[in-house]
Amino acid sequence: MSELLSPVVAEEQRSPLQPDRVELADRQKVLIKTYGCQMNVYDSEQMGDALAGDGYEVTGKIEEANLILLNTCHIREKAAEKVYSDIGRFRKFKEDKAAIGQKLVIGVTGCVAQAEGKEILHRARAVDLVVGPQTYHRLPEIVARALNGERVVDTEYATEDKFEYLPNSEPSQIIKRGVTAFLTIQEGCDKFCTFCVVPYTRGSEQSRSVKQIVDEAKRLILSGVREITLLGQNVNAWHGQGPDGNEWGLGDLLFELAKLSGLDRLRYTTSHPIDMSENSKDRLIAAHRDLDIVMPYLHLPVQSGSSRILKAMNRHHTADDYLRAIDRFRAVRPDIAISGDFIVGFPGESEDDFYLTLDLIRQVKYASAFSFRYSSRPGTPGALMKETVSLETASERLQELQALLNMQQYDFNKQCVEKTMNVLVEKPGKRPGQLIARSPWLQSVILNNGTDDIGDIVPVKIIEGSPNSLIGIRV
Ligand code: SAH
Ligand code: SF4
Ligand code: F3S
Repeated sequence: MSELLSPVVAEEQRSPLQPDRVELADRQKVLIKTYGCQMNVYDSEQMGDALAGDGYEVTGKIEEANLILLNTCHIREKAAEKVYSDIGRFRKFKEDKAAIGQKLVIGVTGCVAQAEGKEILHRARAVDLVVGPQTYHRLPEIVARALNGERVVDTEYATEDKFEYLPNSEPSQIIKRGVTAFLTIQEGCDKFCTFCVVPYTRGSEQSRSVKQIVDEAKRLILSGVREITLLGQNVNAWHGQGPDGNEWGLGDLLFELAKLSGLDRLRYTTSHPIDMSENSKDRLIAAHRDLDIVMPYLHLPVQSGSSRILKAMNRHHTADDYLRAIDRFRAVRPDIAISGDFIVGFPGESEDDFYLTLDLIRQVKYASAFSFRYSSRPGTPGALMKETVSLETASERLQELQALLNMQQYDFNKQCVEKTMNVLVEKPGKRPGQLIARSPWLQSVILNNGTDDIGDIVPVKIIEGSPNSLIGIRV
């Protein structure tokens, strides 16, 4: 939609015979609260952009919002329950606004919306709309219906390609981002790990076309982005037809994006080990070997170091397969930072299985990692498994595992002390004169004597390594 047709302008031209609509026009502000993974961060930006084309301005202040969207995550019980407690809080704002004759529309989007659908309307009376991840491009129309008093649920898998309709596909639209940005290239999952809801909330694996991705990357670069992180629930399962007519994989796509002028850094996440072991992934390894623009960082979740548990999780690979995949990357990029995800307390996990996970961690030496206590999710095969691990045991194991991972992360950071590295200056720090930058290995680097502009890549010497960040001085 063009700027001139936006409802704000249209509302100003309305006759005073429609007073409540004029009032809405004054306060078209949307607050988007994001839960969960980077994919949701990206989606929230897309929703903000789609609504901006409809006259909405994104706000961080709840008092001025007349539309609140909760972009939710269903991965663990805690994440999903948090949504309901937040709705309870927002309901009070809605009631206060109603008391003074104003409207506040509350919407649930994202993975809880997809998983629970209209149930949400029964459970939370304050909710006006429920929209799943596949139909965000329809949001402006859905919000309009909700403003007219309808309670709308749209959790269909749209037949049209939402990316074609979202504003990121609009060549004229350059939307300001920071110096780093996410770009979704693949969505959904066909792997059906027995603990995971994603195949149910995000549908089957879909890859976006090379052209869509390259065009969106170009627009991000024009808006000032220097570093792009390609996103996908299984990003290394991405495939598409290249301009040469051949079937491309993620490695080929990285080679293509590396040609774009103005782009300095490329990352991708999250990779799955079974999409790493095939020969077709040689190009991805070559990209790490040959392209300076591809950062030396690999997020490769393993979940468990026990092949028995991996089987029960339906991961389709063994602990050894995983270690071999990492060896292949390290052979071409010995400095590559390895990151992972772990689940402890999966049904049937014995003390021995848990020790195998600790062993694997010791072998890999992670630069960073995410670890979780298993959360049983409705509708997944895991929820039907009988041999559950007690909460107490799982909590103890998680603590032990996290202590080891934290130590490894600290070791990785300490190794950087005295080294000089190029960092991307991202934003001002908390203190005056301080800048926050990002290392090639995704560490946060605090610069106390930085004067460089945001968006520059500058050499710094690391003088201190703490468990969660580095301190550097400009050289
Ligand atoms: N596609 C990615 C992971 C996406 S979900 C992969 O296969 O590696 C992100 C992480 O959440 C998972 O790696 C897993 O560690 C964690 N997770 C998923 N379901 C979970 C559950 N039911 N309980 C605890 N953690 C879970
Ligand atoms: Fe979930 Fe497994 Fe798919 Fe990852 S690969 S999103 S963990 S089902
Ligand atoms: Fe959560 Fe959905 Fe991401 S369940 S982790 S927001 S894909």
